[in-house]
Amino acid sequence: MKKVTVHMWNEYVKGLTHSSGALYCDSCHQGKAEFLDKSDKKALAGWMDQEFTKKAKRTDGKEHSCSTCHGDPFNPDILAAWKK
Ligand code: HEC
Ligand code: HEC
Repeated sequence: MKKVTVHMWNEYVKGLTHSSGALYCDSCHQGKAEFLDKSDKKALAGWMDQEFTKKAKRTDGKEHSCSTCHGDPFNPDILAAWKK
């Protein structure tokens, strides 16, 4: 959890801004460690696009897309690598 937190801080909180202002842990987490509904991957992909891509920008000014977080080729298991 501590390892994931360091990445979340550096890559999400510092790396992105929200359309309504700064992006904090709770902008995404809303008080829960796990909040994604992974039962429907297609619906989740649409939700990610709405919440994490369209409503955010990169602080380094580069184009923001799924690959900002998931890389290219698309890696669905971001956290597995961060927990190592
Ligand atoms: C851009 C959105 C976003 C921001 C900002 C963010 N997180 Fe996350 N975080 C996620 C997502 C998505 C997950 C995966 C949640 C899931 O699997 O349901 C996650 C997972 C985690 C986990 C692992 C939870 C688990 O049970 O495996 C930890 C710990 C965590 N975040 C901490 C933080 C902390 C601390 C901050 C602020 C420094 C933060 N996050 C900011 C999106 C974000
Ligand atoms: C701000 C970072 C961020 C952005 C941008 C983002 N995602 Fe994600 N996404 C995550 C995190 C974190 C997880 C949880 C990964 C994990 O559990 O290892 C996740 C999980 C997913 C999953 C579930 C993967 C699985 O098999 O469990 C899908 C599908 C997904 N994202 C699709 C997308 C798509 C499509 C886009 C672009 C429209 C996108 N995401 C943009 C951070 C992001």
